[in-house]
Amino acid sequence: MCGIIAYTGRRQCKDLLYQGLRKLEYRGYDSAGLAVLADGRIEVVRAVGNLDSLEKELAGNGCTGASIGLGHTRWATHGRPSTKNAHPHLDCTGKISIVLNGIIENYQELRDQLASEGHKFASETDAEVVSHLVEKHYDDDLVDAVRRSIDVISGHFAFCVIHGDHPELIVGARKECPLLIGVGEGENFIASAIPAFLSETRDVMVIEDGEMVVVTPESIKIIDLDLQPVEREVTRVSWNAEAAEKGGFETFMRKEIFEQPDALADTMAGRLPESGGIVLEELAIPNEELAQIDKVYIVACGTSYHAGLVGRYVLENWSRVAVELDVASEFRYRDPVLSPTTLVVGISQSGETADTLAAMRQARSQGAKVIAITNIMGSQATRDADGILYTRAGLEIGVAATKTHVAQIAAIQLLALYLAQIKKTLGSEELEAIIAELKTIPDLMREYLKNESATHEIAKRYYQQPFFLYLGRGVGLPVCLEGALKLKEISYIPTEAYAAGEMKHGPIALLDKGSPVVVVATDGHVYDKVVSNIEEVRARDASVIAVATEGNERINSLSEDVMYIPETSEMLSPLLSVVPLQLLAYHIAQLKGCNVDQPRNLAKTVTVE
Ligand code: G6P
Repeated sequence: MCGIIAYTGRRQCKDLLYQGLRKLEYRGYDSAGLAVLADGRIEVVRAVGNLDSLEKELAGNGCTGASIGLGHTRWATHGRPSTKNAHPHLDCTGKISIVLNGIIENYQELRDQLASEGHKFASETDAEVVSHLVEKHYDDDLVDAVRRSIDVISGHFAFCVIHGDHPELIVGARKECPLLIGVGEGENFIASAIPAFLSETRDVMVIEDGEMVVVTPESIKIIDLDLQPVEREVTRVSWNAEAAEKGGFETFMRKEIFEQPDALADTMAGRLPESGGIVLEELAIPNEELAQIDKVYIVACGTSYHAGLVGRYVLENWSRVAVELDVASEFRYRDPVLSPTTLVVGISQSGETADTLAAMRQARSQGAKVIAITNIMGSQATRDADGILYTRAGLEIGVAATKTHVAQIAAIQLLALYLAQIKKTLGSEELEAIIAELKTIPDLMREYLKNESATHEIAKRYYQQPFFLYLGRGVGLPVCLEGALKLKEISYIPTEAYAAGEMKHGPIALLDKGSPVVVVATDGHVYDKVVSNIEEVRARDASVIAVATEGNERINSLSEDVMYIPETSEMLSPLLSVVPLQLLAYHIAQLKGCNVDQPRNLAKTVTVE
C-alpha cells in the first residue's frame, strides 16, 4: 500500500507534491511527509494522520525554493503510525532520502547487518533500510548505488531516491508494486498512480517489474537490472483531473454510488452488439479452449470476493460449469486441484492486490488458464493473466468499493453468458432475453437512485443500534455479505452476514427485541424460504429491514421497513439489490459522523500480504 510521488522540474515542488499526495490518500493515511532538496540540503516534513495534519505542518514550514522532492502517504505495515516512522526516510548523512511502497521482507537481517556496520536507524520501518543501503553503496553514482541495493533486497516494492549532490536527479525502482512516470515539459513526475499528477500531465510511461528509472527535468531513462536502456512508449490517458474530484457530491463514496449506472453501461458497451450474442475481445483465450473448460475457480479479496460469489451462481446456472471460489489469501497457501481445463478468474478492482496476484500466478504455474477482471489498465493483474476482462467503472477513490463492485458483477455475468454461448448451455432465445434485460439495468438503477430518501429515513431510525444481522439466500447471500461488509467498514458497527437457512444454527442467539435484521428478500426461487426465515426473526421480536422486489406488497406486513428495488430476473438481481445496502451503510456512517471515504485502518490498494 502507501502512495509515493516524486517531482523534478523548474517549479516550486512543495505544493505539487502535496497536491499529488492528496490524490493518493486513498492508498493509506496513517501518516504523510515530504522531502525537498535545495542548495544541496534535504528538508523533511512529516506528520501523523491524514494529509490535513501534513498541511498544518507545512504551513509553519519553509520548504520553499526547492524544485525537486519526494512525497509519501503511508499505510503502516512495519512500525506503528508515528512521526519517526513516517516517510520520507533519510540515511545517516541526511543527504539521501527515500519514499517506498511495499515490504522489504529481509529488512531485519539487513538492518542488523547495517547497524553492525555503524548505520544509525531513526525509525522502526522496513523502508528505512533502503536509504542506508543506498548510502552504503554510494560512490558518486546514485544509479549504481540503487542498483546494488536492489540486489540484496527481497520483497516487493516501488521506491524513489534523491541525493543532495544530485540537484535534479530522481532514481526510481519497481518490483511488483506500481510505479508510473508523468511526462511533462521541462519537468517530470514519478508516482504510484496516475491521479497523483493528472492535473499536470496526461502523458504517462509505465515502469515494468524489475526496471529502474532515472529522471531529470529534461530526460527520462528506463533501464533494466543490467543497466541496459529499455524503450517505452508514452501513452496519453483519457481520464481528466475532474474525474478525481468530487464533482459536487459531499463524498467520493456518494459520487461513486451515483456513478454506478454509468459504470454498468460502460462495462457492457461494445460487448453486447445489436446483432446479438456477446463479444469479449480482450479475453484472448481461443473459444475452442474455453469450450473445454470444466471448472472455474474464482479468487479475490474483500468486495471483489463478493462479486465472485455472485459469479458462482451465474456460472453454474447459465454456463453449467463447476465453480469453486476462495479468498486469495487462503487459495495461495492451499494445494488446489487445477488442470489445463480449469479457468481461474482473479477479480481485483486495483489489479494490484498482493494475495490475488500470488493466487493467479500460482494457478498459472499449475497450468490453469487465468483471466483477470480488473478496473485498472496495465495493472499487474493484467500481466499475470492469459486474458483480461476490464470493468470500466472509471476512477474509484472511496476506499469502500461501490461502482467497481457492480461493474465486477456485470463482468462476471458477461463471462458466464459468454461461456454459455460457447458451450451452448443456454438456448439462443434464452441468451438473448437475458442480454436484453441486462441492457435495461443501468436505466433501472438510475431511476432507483432518484428515490434514495427511503433509505435515508431507515438509516435515521437505526443508526444508533449496536449490531446488525444480514440474511440472504441464493444470489441474495453475496449481496448481504457485501452489505454487511460496507456497514462495518465505514460505520464501525459490528455486523454478521449469514446464509438465512443457517441462522438457526447460531446467529439467532444474537437476536433480541428490536435487533435490526437486514434481509435480502427479492423475488426468486428461494423467496418463500427467505420468508420463513423472516418469520423466525419476527418470532424473536427483532426488526426486519427487507430488500424486496417492487410490487411485493405482502412483505410490508412481515417487515418493519422495506427497500424496494425494480423488478429483475433472479440472476441479475444482485446488480440492483446491493445498491440499497450501500446507501444504508452510507447514510448510517454519515449520521454517525464517520469519514466514509477514508475508514480507519483500511486502504484501497492492498499491496501487502
Ligand atoms: C481493500 C479495499 C476493498 C477491496 C479489497 C480488494 O480491502 O478496501 O475495497 O475490495 O481491498 O481489492 P481489489 O483491488 O483486489 O479489488
